[in-house]
Amino acid sequence: MKDVVVLVGSGGIGQAIARRVGAGRHVVLGDLRQESADSAAKILEDAGFEVSTIAVDISSRESILALVEHAQKFGAVKNVINAAGVSPSQAPVSAILKVDLYGTAVFLEEFGKIIADGGSGVIISSQSGHRLPALPEEQNTALATAPTEELLNLPFLKEITDTLRAYQYAKRGNCLRVMYEASRWGKRGATVNAISPGVIITPLANDELKGPRGEGYRKMLEASPAGRAGCPDEVGDLAEFIMSSRGRFISGADFLIDGGTTASYFYGDLQYLKKTH
Ligand SMILES: NC(=O)c1ccc[n+]([C@@H]2O[C@H](COP(=O)([O-])OP(=O)(O)OC[C@H]3O[C@@H](n4cnc5c(N)ncnc54)[C@H](O)[C@@H]3O)[C@@H](O)[C@H]2O)c1
Repeated sequence: MKDVVVLVGSGGIGQAIARRVGAGRHVVLGDLRQESADSAAKILEDAGFEVSTIAVDISSRESILALVEHAQKFGAVKNVINAAGVSPSQAPVSAILKVDLYGTAVFLEEFGKIIADGGSGVIISSQSGHRLPALPEEQNTALATAPTEELLNLPFLKEITDTLRAYQYAKRGNCLRVMYEASRWGKRGATVNAISPGVIITPLANDELKGPRGEGYRKMLEASPAGRAGCPDEVGDLAEFIMSSRGRFISGADFLIDGGTTASYFYGDLQYLKKTH
């Protein structure tokens, strides 16, 4: 038996994290699309990692439970990574809330029951959650603590009609949920945190940069403090630190990694975006 690393969402960011924490362990690669998990498996296997793949729909509890069962066959589950998600241009409001908000909450709930002592989890949120104005206290509390099966029925979520707003609520909700779960995970000797990336180059982001809205994106990145987009490996480096022994005192936290874009959106050259984002 080996220590096990579980990844759901075997895309660019997820793979970068799995590479940093997976050596000498068994890495479970889950994705909605089996072919995405398989192509990630080929890359990791060719680099010496031990892997298995499984089709997982994070918006289904049954599917997450099947993932938990699969992972436990290989040993103690030490690291879990949720890098599955759909973006505002990819899906309607209901799917964004179901995958990004509800799916993440169930993932935290179910893995929080079996995470190993000394283990650690990371949830990939987004800078988008940081652009939402402060929410009323009762909304914060509901997003953090409502029973998972009641989350999608929260009245203020039912009022959302815009996909960007749904994505922002889901990603803010991820960070709040991580705070709530940190107590439960702590009782098992484990930590759990969120990472909120800015624009990170993956095939999808690259398509956007080269697509019809590309010019606006490129202008925004050039005017940001870093002057560029991020690489999945930069998110991987941060996740590695948080999940390593050096990160043992970090739990229930959210790390913004966006090259200064959010700071500039509020108080710098990117304030013009407030009208549209
Ligand atoms: N790339 C960016 O610029 C950026 C910025 C901020 C946040 N994020 C977040 O990072 C996470 C990872 O995105 P990425 O950039 O690596 O994109 P990606 O498209 O490369 O990876 C996302 C993966 O999630 C999978 N997925 C989608 N729905 C799923 C479901 N229901 N169940 C299981 N898997 C599912 C997709 O098949 C895909 O392989 C997402 O949550 C995204 O919102 C990305």
